[in-house]
Amino acid sequence: MAPKRRFHIRTYGCQMNVHDAEKVANLLSHAGWVATDDDGAADLLVVNTCSIREKAENRLYTDLGLLREWKAERPGRILGVAGCVAQQEGDTILRRFRTVDFVYGTHNLRLVPTLVAAAEQGERSLRIDETRSLERFDLPERHPDLPDATPGRAFVTVMEGCDMFCTFCVVPNTRGREVSRKAVDIAEEVAALAGRGVREITLLGQTVNAYGRHDVRRGKAAQAGTESFAALVRRLAAIPGIARIRYTSPHPAFFDDDLVRAHGEVAALCPHVHLPAQSGSDRVLERMRRPYTSAEYRALTESLRTARPDIALTTDLIVGFPGETDADFRETLALVRDVGFVDAYTFKYSPRPGTKAAVLSEAVDPALAQERLAELQEMLRSLTMAAHRARVGSETEVLLEGGSARRPGQLSGRDPYHRVVNLTGRAEAAGRPGDLVRVHLVEATPRSLIGEPVSSVRGAGGGKFLKPGAPTADEKGRNARL
Ligand code: 5AD
Ligand code: SF4
Repeated sequence: MAPKRRFHIRTYGCQMNVHDAEKVANLLSHAGWVATDDDGAADLLVVNTCSIREKAENRLYTDLGLLREWKAERPGRILGVAGCVAQQEGDTILRRFRTVDFVYGTHNLRLVPTLVAAAEQGERSLRIDETRSLERFDLPERHPDLPDATPGRAFVTVMEGCDMFCTFCVVPNTRGREVSRKAVDIAEEVAALAGRGVREITLLGQTVNAYGRHDVRRGKAAQAGTESFAALVRRLAAIPGIARIRYTSPHPAFFDDDLVRAHGEVAALCPHVHLPAQSGSDRVLERMRRPYTSAEYRALTESLRTARPDIALTTDLIVGFPGETDADFRETLALVRDVGFVDAYTFKYSPRPGTKAAVLSEAVDPALAQERLAELQEMLRSLTMAAHRARVGSETEVLLEGGSARRPGQLSGRDPYHRVVNLTGRAEAAGRPGDLVRVHLVEATPRSLIGEPVSSVRGAGGGKFLKPGAPTADEKGRNARL
């Protein structure tokens, strides 16, 4: 029998892209391919691209230049390009890079085995057609031979696409219109994940809490098989074995009372919300086409805190949006300080082709944008450190992920607040990746917490479940701002 051919996927960008890569890996495994971590050993390489900022997009072109050599090294090698850049620039990529065998966009990942088979026959193909069909969610069960990169945890797509058209953002062009999966299909997938030892699920969508909103508004949810996002969360929390539910990324406009309440009522719902604010200035928010004011954003964070006092909030912020004045930027700083974010992703505005903001005048000088970014990051560093320090001495629960990058041999994982916790002592003593362990926090660092295991409860191997999500009295007190 001929040896099985090997594939490698190089992925950039958001969690949706990471999950798309997992889906493609599964499809290729079903088609008889074997995964490898090493692109040098691969016969097939798929580059899963991101176009959110110019820097991300440029990486593809650098990669494709370098991959000419990879392709030439061994005859019969196949190169594919996928993701958001593929969706927007598909034919250009195929024309410009003779080494590329196939290109498929964000709506067509299901076609990957067909495109690979065509490439094996020497055919080059392009599939970037858009669809609203739910067919894109029909994917085979996980292949048993596929290595599990994240034992105990899994992503679950609940909706795709975005109808918001923020003026800076390319996503509505690359991911198309909002489409929500049927709630029963999502529940079935989650039950299957729980059945193979998954304890934590992260619900994914470009505007994840917009799940089902169009159907609910039109009174057509029952027909469409969708429901409100809060109802979906409650449905999934009832599935035995699911100890933690996260979701990313929500839009501030789609928090209804029920979702806020769920944070106080659903034990499995993690006390962390990543809530993109983008700016603290009403003037900038309006130009960004974000449909809320800074006061409304603050009010939302307060109601989340009322529902779940220990909730940790993180956010996305953009500096240097066209027309952003120093006063606007100060308002962003004030928002960050007042809300007390535990952490944030901060970005310098990057004009994206085809977006409304790309044609706005009053560009901010790049050096000034850089200064603002540095000042914002400085404030966030001190907030993160203060939040971490406030936790030292308390206990938390960590879902083990594997060796810590900086201290090989030691385990690390995430607590319910989504903070990284590195464990002291040898890995074997604490547990295995996928286990939930009780940890006593002993030290704060700028990027993570350090903890000592108190006890270990087997995750993937069965055994009794820890009561999910519920903070100890100690945690509640200490984490008032985290
Ligand atoms: N420039 C800078 N940052 C951007 N983001 C999205 N588009 C741009 C852009 N053109 C940021 C937003 C978004 C995150 C995923 O990326 O903050 O929430
Ligand atoms: Fe982009 Fe705005 Fe949609 Fe988020 S809500 S994906 S920032 S357009």
